[in-house]
Amino acid sequence: MTIRAAVCGLGHYLPERVVENEEFARTLDTSDAWIRSRTGIERRHFAAEGETSARMAARAARAALDDAGLAPADIDAIVLATSTPDLTFPSTATMVQAALGMKGGFAFDVQAVCAGFIFALANADAMIRAGLVRRVLVIGAETFSRILDFSDRSTCVLFGDGAGALVLEAVEGAGTPQDRGILAVDLNSDGSQRELLYVDGGVSSTGTVGVLRMQGPELFKQAVNKLAETALAALEKAGLEPGDLDWIVPHQANIRIIAGTAKKLGLEMDHVVVTLQDHGNTSAASIPLALSVAAARGSFRPGELLLLEAIGGGLAWGAVALRW
Ligand code: UT7
Repeated sequence: MTIRAAVCGLGHYLPERVVENEEFARTLDTSDAWIRSRTGIERRHFAAEGETSARMAARAARAALDDAGLAPADIDAIVLATSTPDLTFPSTATMVQAALGMKGGFAFDVQAVCAGFIFALANADAMIRAGLVRRVLVIGAETFSRILDFSDRSTCVLFGDGAGALVLEAVEGAGTPQDRGILAVDLNSDGSQRELLYVDGGVSSTGTVGVLRMQGPELFKQAVNKLAETALAALEKAGLEPGDLDWIVPHQANIRIIAGTAKKLGLEMDHVVVTLQDHGNTSAASIPLALSVAAARGSFRPGELLLLEAIGGGLAWGAVALRW
C-alpha cells in the first residue's frame, strides 16, 4: 500500500474590482491591443483597500472546505504560498488558521514567487506521504497590485490579485502511475538569475517593501525551455510520458509561454487550462485559481492526468504530475 495525496476540494476568491486593459491606456503609453497580443491578458482583479492576501486566502480556503464537505477542525495543516504577505511576520498561513477558527494543527508560508504553489504542494505531499498529516489546505494568495510600479508599462499591466485553495488528503494507492493523487514532483531553482525578476526592497536590505522589476524578454526565453524540462522530469519520475497527459494546468504568465510549453509537450491548446485573460498573472495564486475555475466548469474527469507547471523569481521552477 502506498499513501498518496489526492485533491478532495477546491475553491477560489477574486476581488470585486475588475481592471480592464483600457484603464492602463489612460495613464500609460500602452493599449489593449498590445497587452492582449503580447500576453493574452484582457483584464485582472485588484484588491480593495484593506483586502489582504490573508483575507482572500481565508475566503478561498472556506470555499475549498465547503467543496470537500469538511470543517476547519478536519484539517491538520495549512501551507500557504505567497510573496505578498500581510505582515513581515507572523506567516499569512497562521492568519488564515485564525480566520478559520482552527484551534489545532499548524500553518506556515512558502515563498517561491510564481512557482510558490508548486513548492507548497510538494511540501504538503511530502508531509502526507510521511504520515505527519492526513489533510492539508494548500493555498496560493497574492496582492501583487501592492508591489507594482504603475509608471512601468512593461510590468504593471501583467499582474493581478486573487487566491486559490485546495484540500489534499491521504488516500491509499497501489504505488502505480494509475493511482489517484500526486504521482511525482520536480523542483528547481537557480539563485544566480535573481536579476531577471525581483522586488527592489526588503526588510533586511532597504527596510522598504519595494516594487517589482523584471527583464521580461530574457525570462520569456528561459521560461519555455525550463517549463518543458521540468514537466518532462515530473512525468518521467511518475513513469509516464507526455502522450499520457489529459491536461496541462500552467502558471498563467503569458499565453505565448503557455502555448510554447504545450507545443513542446505535444498537447493541443484545448487540453490546456487558460484563465489569464480574466485574471492576469496572479503569481502563486494562478495555478490554484486555474484549477478551481476549471474544476467548477467540470473540465476534469476522474482518472485524468494533470500536469501543473510554473516558473518565477529566483529563478524557481517546478512541476507536479497529478491524477484527478
Ligand atoms: O510570472 C513569472 C514569470 N513571468 C514571465 O515569465 C514573463 C515573461 N516575459 C513576458 O511575458 C514578456 O517578455 C512580456 C509580456 C513581459 C513582454 O513582451 P515582449 O514581447 O517580450 O516585449 P518586449 O519587452 O520585447 O517589448 C517589445 C516592445 C518594446 O518597445 P521597443 O523597444 O520595441 O520600441 C517595449 O518597450 O514593446 C514595448 N512595450 C510595451 N508597449 C506597449 C513593453 N511593454 C509595453 C506595454 N504597452 N505595456
